[in-house]
Amino acid sequence: MNLYLISKNIPMNNKNNELNERRDFIKTSAILTGGALLSSIPLAGAYASGSDTIKIALIGCGSRGTGAAFQALSTKFNLKLVAMADAFPDKLEKSHKSLLAKFGAEKISVPEDKKFTGFDGYKSAMEDADVVLLCTPPGFRPVHFAEAVKQNKQIFMEKPVATDSPGIRSVLATAEEAKRKKLNVVVGLQRHYQKNYRELIKRVHQGELGDIISGQVYWNSGGVWVNPRQPNQTEMEYQMRNWYYFNWLCGDHIVEQHVHNIDVANWVKNKYPVSAYGAGGRFLRTGKDYGEIFDNHSIEFVYDDGTVISSQCRHFTGGANRVDESFQGTKGKIFLDSSNRGKIWDHKGKVLVNYEGKNDANPYQTEHDELFAAITANQYKFADAENAAKSTMTAIMGRYASYSGDVIKWDDALNSNINLMPDRLAWDALPKILPNFDGTYPHAIPGVTKVI
Ligand SMILES: NC(=O)c1ccc[n+]([C@@H]2O[C@H](COP(=O)([O-])OP(=O)(O)OC[C@H]3O[C@@H](n4cnc5c(N)ncnc54)[C@H](O)[C@@H]3O)[C@@H](O)[C@H]2O)c1
Repeated sequence: MNLYLISKNIPMNNKNNELNERRDFIKTSAILTGGALLSSIPLAGAYASGSDTIKIALIGCGSRGTGAAFQALSTKFNLKLVAMADAFPDKLEKSHKSLLAKFGAEKISVPEDKKFTGFDGYKSAMEDADVVLLCTPPGFRPVHFAEAVKQNKQIFMEKPVATDSPGIRSVLATAEEAKRKKLNVVVGLQRHYQKNYRELIKRVHQGELGDIISGQVYWNSGGVWVNPRQPNQTEMEYQMRNWYYFNWLCGDHIVEQHVHNIDVANWVKNKYPVSAYGAGGRFLRTGKDYGEIFDNHSIEFVYDDGTVISSQCRHFTGGANRVDESFQGTKGKIFLDSSNRGKIWDHKGKVLVNYEGKNDANPYQTEHDELFAAITANQYKFADAENAAKSTMTAIMGRYASYSGDVIKWDDALNSNINLMPDRLAWDALPKILPNFDGTYPHAIPGVTKVI
């Protein structure tokens, strides 16, 4: 099966309706992420307030999962970690040990029979918890999110929220269900919880820059880790331990990392793009250790008003790195980055705002402070999943564009039926992407690979 093909049998929705819905949603979402109160009485998953302890479960005990548990347990509220799940026992134990060392046995109350490993442990780990932290690689997020909502849990989940279009459609459906049940959902697109982004983008939405007509977003950095293949590893274990390099698990780095900056573009524009066009490839990262992903993507995202946002992401060492966002409006321009900085100028170069939030709170902590404040007050305040799904979809649409070299339209991308997930999840099962006889993996070739 060619994983790079998108089905041609795409049901075309009424585009105008869909655009209007997208516009309406993102306005709502911007309000929600500002923390507007939606309801004070959750329908499901209500936490019994007072002196009760909030029980949390960690699903995916790697570096971010351990960090998210650390941040949850560092809030001022009365929390206890009661269950953990990871595909690998060694990862779970390492995380447990470091959390136990930091917080002690009273807060890290995870007996042996509440430590779950393998692919199915997530379900049992959720059972005893009020709040679940979903921090596996993103390929599993749609299924884990659906189970968490089914079990009426309040949720923190990491970005991105899927790696393919069927996964996005699943998350969108589950997001609706979470709203119906009034379950708080915070997603780790932490710029939405960072003061410089919140304050300066509010000014953009108030019209200080006029209409935004162009922008540039970047995640140009040196790349990530490699875990060399070990003797006796099955192909499934190899790919799971090197999840970054396989699209069913990671989505490529345009999805895994650059979603942050692409999401800022959507936030600033208050809408999602209608098409993507661009290129990418594997210049330097070409060997057997690097799976199927590209080391660079350059994409133009086009919005319905003609605005073009240029996006670059690459994983090279050497060269100039940058991770930030700039936008130009009819009255002025803005720069933002994750080091708590922001600047607004008029077109004559006069600086109108020069924001340097040296003492601003860590947004990774703010996510949890605000989520658990809402939960302890029995408030329904956060519905981040729909925007996260649509920003993740934007990044996936960028991947489709760079893999093919074609112009990719939003509706075609969203309705693709190509499912990257393996048919069966087990250590002896085969992923859909398999190595060539020389140990390298097949990958897309722009201009040759057809995605539509
Ligand atoms: N918001 C941010 O700035 C930020 C930063 C880093 C990572 N992340 C996101 O956090 C997620 C995890 O990244 P990480 O850096 O912690 O990776 P990691 O490899 O350190 O951790 C992932 C963990 O999930 C486990 N896992 C994999 N499949 C599983 C399954 N089916 N069930 C249970 N456990 C499973 C792995 O064994 C591993 O321990 C990713 O989605 C990543 O994009 C977000």
